Amino acid sequence: MRRVPLAESLRIIGRGSLNWLRERPIVVSFEVTDSCTCYCKHCDHGGPKDDAGNLKPGDYRRYMEALHPCVVQISGGEPLMRDDVVEIVRNIKGGDGLPYTILVSNWSLMTEQRYLELHHAGVDQFSVSLDFPDSRHDEFRVHPGLYEHLRQVVPRCAAHGYDDIVLNSCITSENVNEIDAMACKAREWGVNICYSAYSARRTGCRDYFLNTPEQLATLNRGLDCVESRRDSTRWIVNSATTLEATRRYFENGGTPGCKAGLRFLVVTAGGALQPCSMQFQRYALGDQPRMIEEFTRHNTCDQCYVSIRSYLDKNFPRLLWENVSGFFSFKTP
Ligand SMILES: C[S@@+](CC[C@H](N)C(=O)[O-])C[C@H]1O[C@@H](n2cnc3c(N)ncnc32)[C@H](O)[C@@H]1O
Ligand code: SF4
Ligand code: SF4
Repeated sequence: MRRVPLAESLRIIGRGSLNWLRERPIVVSFEVTDSCTCYCKHCDHGGPKDDAGNLKPGDYRRYMEALHPCVVQISGGEPLMRDDVVEIVRNIKGGDGLPYTILVSNWSLMTEQRYLELHHAGVDQFSVSLDFPDSRHDEFRVHPGLYEHLRQVVPRCAAHGYDDIVLNSCITSENVNEIDAMACKAREWGVNICYSAYSARRTGCRDYFLNTPEQLATLNRGLDCVESRRDSTRWIVNSATTLEATRRYFENGGTPGCKAGLRFLVVTAGGALQPCSMQFQRYALGDQPRMIEEFTRHNTCDQCYVSIRSYLDKNFPRLLWENVSGFFSFKTP
């Protein structure tokens, strides 16, 4: 995975430290639409929604000025359904290269040309959801032909050499056998891989959680395999401690200590602040301090370990060490 240049790393550390102290979010996830091209079995989005009240590209500038995050996720729904997504990126991205910007997408609407436009507009990382290393992906996402489309478009985009594409594989009971095969797929397509963990909170369905000792043993075998393949190129994007915490999350049925609303938050398609994508208390843009008081200080929810949490539940020195010194330009000695 491409390392961020030193000067930009320093700016990210500077802004991150300030936000940490001032209780402003490190990561903001903009859900730019509720609509989607898929109907995934593990998700509460799916299909078309009313997009009339969506923020316009220019509105995102106001949110950036108020929240000042150092990392932004552009997500949804399916963000590529917005024809103006490139313009949204331009409005989010400041002149100094910040924030580090991640587009989280299923890539059903991605083309090589769009990838290049988004790259030049300032997307630093393309997170491509992949649940299976073959056409079972189509069944799980209820989108015929999606896997074949990815098989063609991902390697073509990767061939440009920017090293900014990451397969994002959400581990469920359905695909827990495929952990290493998914890593092989990333290598085959010339891209990186990141694992996240299923949460039953989105849909209320516990069937896709890892509920049996056999499933937990399969998880551990798969992650052992992945760990043995880790090298200094960071093609396995999760840190070792995050993968370790993912094992504990499934084993214990949750992970306490969530900082939703404080260290990270979601901006809905219509512009409300929410603690996370699975907690629906809504606040106005200026009301983050109230969200921290009313929600974060009393939050006992432990029901997910998605990537936004895995970055940010750590204490600040560890966060810097893992997500900055490893990921950005500071090499560990
Ligand atoms: C909600 S989607 C939005 C972006 C885009 N539509 C996509 O699928 O990448 C973002 C990520 O959440 C993951 N996701 C969906 N439902 C989930 C669940 N119940 N638990 C954990 N992750 C989930 C998806 O697999 C995807 O990687
Ligand atoms: S996971 Fe992404 S692609 Fe699937 S339904 Fe949810 S928002 Fe859509
Ligand atoms: S653990 Fe935190 S981020 Fe996850 S669903 Fe609960 S409140 Fe949201």
